[in-house]
Amino acid sequence: MSRPVGLTQPPLAQAPPTHEPLAHEPLAAVDLPPTIAIRDLTMRFGAGTADAVLAVDNVSLSLAPGEFVSLVGPSGCGKTTILNLLTGLLKEEADGDVRVLGRPPREGNPDIAYMLARDSLLPWRTARDNAAFGMEVRGMPRRERETRARDLLQQVGLGDFADKFPKALSHGMRQRCALARTFALDSPVLLMDEPFGALDAQTKLTLEDLLMQLWSAHRKTVVFVTHDLAEAIALSDRVIVMSARPGRIVADVAIDLPRPRDVRKLQTDHRFHDLYAKLWRLLEQGAAAHE
Ligand SMILES: Nc1ncnc2c1ncn2[C@@H]1O[C@H](COP(=O)(O)OP(=O)(O)O)[C@@H](O)[C@H]1O
Ligand SMILES: [Mg+2]
Repeated sequence: MSRPVGLTQPPLAQAPPTHEPLAHEPLAAVDLPPTIAIRDLTMRFGAGTADAVLAVDNVSLSLAPGEFVSLVGPSGCGKTTILNLLTGLLKEEADGDVRVLGRPPREGNPDIAYMLARDSLLPWRTARDNAAFGMEVRGMPRRERETRARDLLQQVGLGDFADKFPKALSHGMRQRCALARTFALDSPVLLMDEPFGALDAQTKLTLEDLLMQLWSAHRKTVVFVTHDLAEAIALSDRVIVMSARPGRIVADVAIDLPRPRDVRKLQTDHRFHDLYAKLWRLLEQGAAAHE
């Protein structure tokens, strides 16, 4: 029987965690309740119809505060579905229990900022007003959001482009602006769905480095979805490998590369290549298991 996600368990007795870890504190040493806790999640679209699709099968996953975790897996294995379930956007019911900061998912949760693959900038707004857009939706006072937007645009290297409209910006610059908008929200949880998927290889590395700098400075808990193993390794504390649909977790691999990382230097680091080979094998096994 299907049950609504997050409504199946009694409310947690303890207060939800509200604190964030200090920058670069070793996460293993931080004994805090998980920021994201997914237990026995199974998601079937169109349940009871001839077109029923089992998208996610019995996935359990938890993220410590400040952790950066990537989900990799073949197209259609349920990665976006998992992010959507965390946001409370999906109206269909799922089995299992999902918690964000101890609470069930709910639409419009200010604890979550969501960044998508394609830049979703509004073409009639300047970079500054796009960077401020999420804050505006959340009702932040004008002066505060303008200050934050200006500050974040500086941090992403767009300080001189604040008055430009998206059509005057390169694809990489538009994704910088989308990063500014995402981090300006100051939500403790970031969900990123292939945010650099459509960029050329060089621009992608630059944006990955920028994301690492922002993450180190702001220290959010991140679930990052990507097809790109190299990207997942360069960015993450852990990489979760999923099988082909129905998506199951086939491996949870710790990425023990030291931080701070230089994404470009990593490309020629043998430890990076060893991890790549290991994850590649796991991904192939996961894909083959369902063919
Ligand atoms: N709203 C929906 N209705 C029906 N099927 C869906 C819906 N969303 C996703 N699916 C199906 O669920 C599976 C997983 O999709 P998705 O989470 O988008 O995969 P991924 O992001 O890993 O590529 C796919 O087979 C997809 O067609
Ligand atoms: Mg997807």
